[in-house]
Amino acid sequence: MGSTMTEDFNVRLVEDVKTYTPDPQYKKNAWMGDYQKAYNDFLADKDGFWAKMASELEWIRPWTSVKEWNYPYAKWFIKAQLNITANCLDRHVKGQRRNKAALIWRGENGAERIFTYQQLLGKVMRFANALKKIGVKKGDRVCIYMPLVPEQMIAMLACARIGAVHSVVFGGFGSAALKMRIQDASAKVVITADIGMRRGKTIQLKSIVDEAIVDCSSVEHVIVLRRQDPQIDLRPGLELDFREIMAGAPQECPAEVMDAEDPLFTLYTSGSTGKPKGIVHTCGGYMVGTYYTSKYVFDMKDEDIFWCTADPGWITGHSYIVYGPLAVGATVFMSELTPDYPDAGSYWGLIEEQKITIFYTAPTAIRMFMKLGEIWPNKYDLSSLRIIGSVGEPLNPEAFEWYYHVIGKDKIPILDTWWQTETGMHMITTMIGEPMRPGFAGRPIPGVEVDVVDKDGNSVPPGTGGLLVVKSPWPSMLRMVWKDDARYRVYWETLKGVYTVGDLAVKGKDGYIMILGRSDDIIVVAGHNIGTAEVESSLVSHPAVAESAVIGKPDELKGNSIKAFVILRVGFSSSDKLRQDLMYHVRMTLGPIAVPQEIDFVDKLPKTRSGKIMRRVLKAKEMGMDPGDISTLEE
Ligand code: WTA
Repeated sequence: MGSTMTEDFNVRLVEDVKTYTPDPQYKKNAWMGDYQKAYNDFLADKDGFWAKMASELEWIRPWTSVKEWNYPYAKWFIKAQLNITANCLDRHVKGQRRNKAALIWRGENGAERIFTYQQLLGKVMRFANALKKIGVKKGDRVCIYMPLVPEQMIAMLACARIGAVHSVVFGGFGSAALKMRIQDASAKVVITADIGMRRGKTIQLKSIVDEAIVDCSSVEHVIVLRRQDPQIDLRPGLELDFREIMAGAPQECPAEVMDAEDPLFTLYTSGSTGKPKGIVHTCGGYMVGTYYTSKYVFDMKDEDIFWCTADPGWITGHSYIVYGPLAVGATVFMSELTPDYPDAGSYWGLIEEQKITIFYTAPTAIRMFMKLGEIWPNKYDLSSLRIIGSVGEPLNPEAFEWYYHVIGKDKIPILDTWWQTETGMHMITTMIGEPMRPGFAGRPIPGVEVDVVDKDGNSVPPGTGGLLVVKSPWPSMLRMVWKDDARYRVYWETLKGVYTVGDLAVKGKDGYIMILGRSDDIIVVAGHNIGTAEVESSLVSHPAVAESAVIGKPDELKGNSIKAFVILRVGFSSSDKLRQDLMYHVRMTLGPIAVPQEIDFVDKLPKTRSGKIMRRVLKAKEMGMDPGDISTLEE
């Protein structure tokens, strides 16, 4: 954070006075119409605020106190008991929403499936019983590696029903990434499908699983959703058919009684080492956080049809396809279609067809739409939309303007939501009806306290860049990193007393926060977090590679792209063929999202005297900038 950056921001903040104020009707009709009042209420009684939110849900046994903060460890809703699926399903089935659509799914080729709340509960209970029958018990880990189909949601909820801890692995990951996650969690069961569908092509998920589980002694069964005709063969004993085991299972499955602090799931996210971190979320706090934000941030009403374009394999899908919207009793739309297939109008066509009211997507998709032009969205009737959202990386002002004018027709509020796998729920945004500032995510939502600080933890004035921190615990915060307490502590101990996010940010005079990007060795590519160390270790696992360093480069569409510098082992020489081989190698081990767009073969890498690669120097050179302080550089 040099001085030039700070000066830049001062200039921008003064000049950039542009705000958009939505129609006052939004504020009038919103669940939380008065941001400032809600925030003040929270500050006046923090535990009371969360107790009020939690009491909108059903508990088997109430809490004795709202939280226990034993720095850096938090517990929420002490001694309370619940089951999140009872809130996501049974609560609605008992009442007016029994026959309401919980999930509408669209596949490629026009396929459509609809599940009412009652039907979804039925499927979840049957699959939960099937899991029980093969020996899955409360606390066991189940890995879910599936395409974007309803069975993915059913599998997640079935685990939660019986208290098994799910670990969803995004279907775009390769076999090495999958293996590492299965092994780290010692998963007993892996749930997959024979194939995924993407842009008219099939992806052989099952063969990736076959390769991944070779050294996974914990795995007792693989459950396969067979989508292809004729059906693939299953290995007797080890492999089971998804539908068959469900058909044979009893219909009723009471929800397991869970303690609020029992783990609900783990989800792996990239860290600064080659090994991803298993972020652990618990039943009570996570339920309250995702319910609260689905209702009050997204302002979900019974009439809404909500579409979050993420995959349930990411936290966005966990929180805002599955748990949050269902806890509220919303209708969730989910689709296996990509934004550019069969053509660049696919999303807009679905919005028209399904009359989507709340649409939640990522800046990388918005920038792609921008590039393809207004002609695509303009072909469709988007008048059902009332709220549009963004998540995953900074929504740059140009993309904001395009989203607001072309999709929002100059009147629909944009929710640019900042949050993380670790936070479980939205943390910073501009609440519905509040004035919006392009480039700024907004302010902390009621329930959340944040600040921008310098490297010693002192609050910095408006206009000065710094580290984004969260100042107090919140219910849906991560409770631990699976089997790695030291890495958990880093979040709360990097700066004494606060949660260090790992993002750089700048505050405006009005308290609005602009997120600038990561401050650590994570590259956000198309909204996906990729650790430089993960890509580097994949590259060096190739026989031709001696050493490698990976950096992120700004990319117009994807936010960042990956560039790798590679030193070859003696006996290998650089060639385009080798370059392609290395790209393929990363694709097969980590998956397509982690493939470097560029690979340069080099003789040496800038290093500190202690041997640490200085990626910052590579990056500065790459971008024609001053590398800054290089006094620690070896040569
Ligand atoms: C980035 C995704 C700017 C940020 C929910 C964060 C954002 C990381 C935004 C978490 C946003 C997410 N504006 N940056 N609205 N939302 N990020 O764990 O760098 O996949 O730390 O969670 O994405 O990514 P994760």
